[in-house]
Amino acid sequence: MKFIIGNWKMNGNMDEKESLLSAISGIKTKNKVVLCLPYTLLYGENFGISIGAQDVSNHDKGSFTGDISASMLKDANIQYVIVGHSDRRLYHNETNELVKEKATIAIKNGIIPIVCVGETIEEKNSGHTTSVIKKMLLESIPKDGEYIIAYEPRWAIGSGLTPTNNEIVTAVKTIFDNLPNPMPILYGGSVNQDNALDIATIPYIDGLLIGGASLKSETFLPIIKSIN
Ligand code: PGA
Repeated sequence: MKFIIGNWKMNGNMDEKESLLSAISGIKTKNKVVLCLPYTLLYGENFGISIGAQDVSNHDKGSFTGDISASMLKDANIQYVIVGHSDRRLYHNETNELVKEKATIAIKNGIIPIVCVGETIEEKNSGHTTSVIKKMLLESIPKDGEYIIAYEPRWAIGSGLTPTNNEIVTAVKTIFDNLPNPMPILYGGSVNQDNALDIATIPYIDGLLIGGASLKSETFLPIIKSIN
């Protein structure tokens, strides 16, 4: 079983969500398909497909205007939440420590966090990929509970560029070797219908986190079908 997780980021509306979920529900797959949606689209018909959020507060409740708590996500039947996506780390200055708090509070509320880690192009070019990933991982993962790791090189996100299979194996093996307990490891960054199966079958890879190509049936369904 592989995870095929879509991340809509700040895109989409109710009609687009319903049409994609209904199309996905028509595919027979042994894999676990999850769609991580903006908050406004979390409620409503999900056609039997698992729904995830893209962020969660590190606080239980209270005076945090604009934030959404893990118990609110649970109340909306949300099963997964992305934490520490590079967009959040970059545009909201999220630190490993904060990401760990978010992952921990998600688990406490019965939601599986998808913890993202990945190096920048500068870190890659200076040969620091392994040490950067290891530090991010060890500082971002919760102490206990079940979670998923997504290896997403920042430079590969939305750029059309992907690491070589060897680079992916090296990175995910680093993650695998440093996890205190075995957890699923995903790859994310410019996955499309042409490279999805190849990447999904790399050793240590348990699935894919897909941004741009998850937005439309024409690009997402072929990925889901190719990994069947
Ligand atoms: P992308 O995004 O597939 O559009 O590169 C991946 C992600 O940000 O999770």
